[in-house]
Amino acid sequence: MGRLWRVAKWVLATLAVLIVALVVFVEVRGRRRFEVAMPAIRASADPAVIARGEFLVQGPAHCSGCHAASLAAFRAMRPGGALVPQGGVQWDLPFGHFRSANLTADRATGLGAWTDGEIARAVRHGVGRDGHLLPFMALSVGRFSDADLTAIVSYLRTLAPVTNPLPPESPNVLGHALIAFALGPTHQDAPLAAVEPGPTAAYGAYLTEVAVCVGCHSPTDASFRTVEPRFSGGDPEPTDDDPSLEYAPPNLTRGGVLSTFNEDGFIARMRAGRRFADSHMAWENFARMSDDDLRAIWRYLQTVPVSHRVTGPIRRTRGWKP
Ligand code: HEC
Ligand code: HEC
Repeated sequence: MGRLWRVAKWVLATLAVLIVALVVFVEVRGRRRFEVAMPAIRASADPAVIARGEFLVQGPAHCSGCHAASLAAFRAMRPGGALVPQGGVQWDLPFGHFRSANLTADRATGLGAWTDGEIARAVRHGVGRDGHLLPFMALSVGRFSDADLTAIVSYLRTLAPVTNPLPPESPNVLGHALIAFALGPTHQDAPLAAVEPGPTAAYGAYLTEVAVCVGCHSPTDASFRTVEPRFSGGDPEPTDDDPSLEYAPPNLTRGGVLSTFNEDGFIARMRAGRRFADSHMAWENFARMSDDDLRAIWRYLQTVPVSHRVTGPIRRTRGWKP
């Protein structure tokens, strides 16, 4: 008995040391800085470029929805409307506390003191001014051509400064573990090529990257990267208002929800706004797209390989199984 106890003590002591070492490792690695080059983007004062940036930020790239002053402000947005992206929407998650940032030109609390390259790097790669990961940005922002990234930075530069000091984000040990092991800077491969806007499948394909339709409506791997079959339906997302429920982004191929629409019906649906108050899909922003933009998306989705993956009801009990 005495010997067994001695062995057990050693095993427990070793385990305790390993756990402490793991926590320390996670806390250090979860705060690491990333050396990612800044994109060679320079803001332009050309009104056409700024207008394109406004369309992207308030429309398909749905920056303004997340960067609203509060969840209430976002929810009060009309389909196709616009919001000042002054930041303040909060997410209290099992991974810690997060809040969107002030994107106006205020020097102290917004982007006024950031360089064009720093802003472009935050948007394209999810890396902050000091090299820390911006986890929400890394997870939920689409891909852009250099021309469109220029347009976005150019538009943000025109926003009148709003002084809006916000609390720092505070990921906890779980959040740091995610950053340590699963997340990292995104879109480090070649930027997407610019595509001429118009009601074409090619432009639709581009818009589904800008708007992250593909990200939310496809399965993902352990690092939240999109995997095949693309557009066959996304991972269930928790609801904000009722933790007992979840949303399932449906299958957007012709084997899924697309088969319930025709082209004009799809455009009308995208314009109509949300059915559910707390769905994460930025319906209001997306409604800013023109008929041709939505036609382009529809035409592209017609070309995506059909998947018959069944994703179940859109809104349902959390953990729902067929
Ligand atoms: C899903 C919500 C979401 C979307 C969509 C989103 N952001 Fe963010 N953004 C955040 C959050 C939250 C932060 C704070 C850092 C973090 O957690 O990523 C942030 C941080 C930033 C920062 C860094 C500012 C700072 O002070 O640290 C910039 C710049 C930025 N966002 C620009 C944009 C632009 C431009 C778009 C659209 C292309 C966009 N964001 C889309 C949620 C979002
Ligand atoms: C942030 C994640 C997210 C993004 C980005 C997103 N969706 Fe969704 N989508 C959802 C969720 C969740 C639902 C189910 C809840 C709802 O209908 O709002 C949904 C539902 C839908 C539906 C079914 C609506 C219905 O009433 O039958 C369509 C169609 C759709 N999305 C198309 C798109 C397109 C096109 C894009 C890109 C322009 C897109 N989604 C981007 C999450 C997303």
